[in-house]
Amino acid sequence: MVEKIQQVAQELEAAALNNASELEQFRIAYMGRKGRIADLFDNLKQVAPEQRRQVGQELNSLKNRAQERFDQAQEQLASAAAGNAGEQAFDFSLPPVPNTLGTRHPLSLVRREIVRIFERIGFNVSEGPEMEDDWHNFSALNFPENHPAREMQDTFFLSADRQQLLRTHTSTVQVRLMETQKPPLRSIMPGRVYRNEAISARAHMVFHQVEGLYVDKNVSFADLKQTLYYFAKEMFGQDTQVRFRPSFFPFTEPSAEIDITCLICKGEGCNICKHTGWVEIGGSGMVDPAVLESSGIDPQEYSGFAFGMGIERITMLKYQIKDLRLFTENDVRFLRQFEGVI
Ligand code: PHE
Repeated sequence: MVEKIQQVAQELEAAALNNASELEQFRIAYMGRKGRIADLFDNLKQVAPEQRRQVGQELNSLKNRAQERFDQAQEQLASAAAGNAGEQAFDFSLPPVPNTLGTRHPLSLVRREIVRIFERIGFNVSEGPEMEDDWHNFSALNFPENHPAREMQDTFFLSADRQQLLRTHTSTVQVRLMETQKPPLRSIMPGRVYRNEAISARAHMVFHQVEGLYVDKNVSFADLKQTLYYFAKEMFGQDTQVRFRPSFFPFTEPSAEIDITCLICKGEGCNICKHTGWVEIGGSGMVDPAVLESSGIDPQEYSGFAFGMGIERITMLKYQIKDLRLFTENDVRFLRQFEGVI
């Protein structure tokens, strides 16, 4: 009997337990009701009573050992199966998730195009703060104290003494540039500006301008005209005409409004150009000597021209957008139309 127990113990240790069916065979062969260990327990009755206790103990430890091997093998198989399941979580046959790309805002597209055109003729880009002081927005630009021109600009003031404000135009950057750098200066200044106006299809309290400044020796009005002719043709097409209309700005003298051929009717006359064939894109002029002087540049030695244009206005003309509010509503049906424009 003791020999039989030892033999079963040896075989039990040698049994292969590498997969579910071997495990099941093992369970039936050793642990089942008709298995070899149950068989041995049946034979216990035939053992002499004085040995029965010891043999019984050996049989019990054999039974425990069988259970132990079975449990260990089962656990190993289960964790191996879990590992495989983890690897198989990648389903290589699934179609890919579509890569949805955002689009550039039309104002960003146009701003970048304007910058590229001016960079080709030697202008760099300058920027300045949106929260400004009276000096940079008005005084340095030759707006006299209590002059009605200040009221024209519908300013958002940030302090009760009206010294701090949101800039109403990017001409503020002109002043900052002249204060900090020596001529020759050739720069364009795109940026956001604020005016206290009711929001409508044609006006907004927040919009964008791009200002240009050129200061050097012997800069003339002819240089201003040529620069803007070049810009208009590059931006809107070679057959675009430019017209200068006398105007007034405190910081330029002489001053001129810039008109271009109406892009909608090609100059024939339509609703957009109010049947004139021309549309306005901005203001311009020769920098007033008083402005050069207040920024620390000698007007006897240097002269300059400046111009300012609305980016929204140019974008509306270029893409025939009829309502200014579309730029700020973030309606994807509008923005998607600029998908793929580089
Ligand atoms: N700053 C002016 C405006 O906002 C535009 C302008 C700029 C006019 C430069 C002349 C020269 O209306």
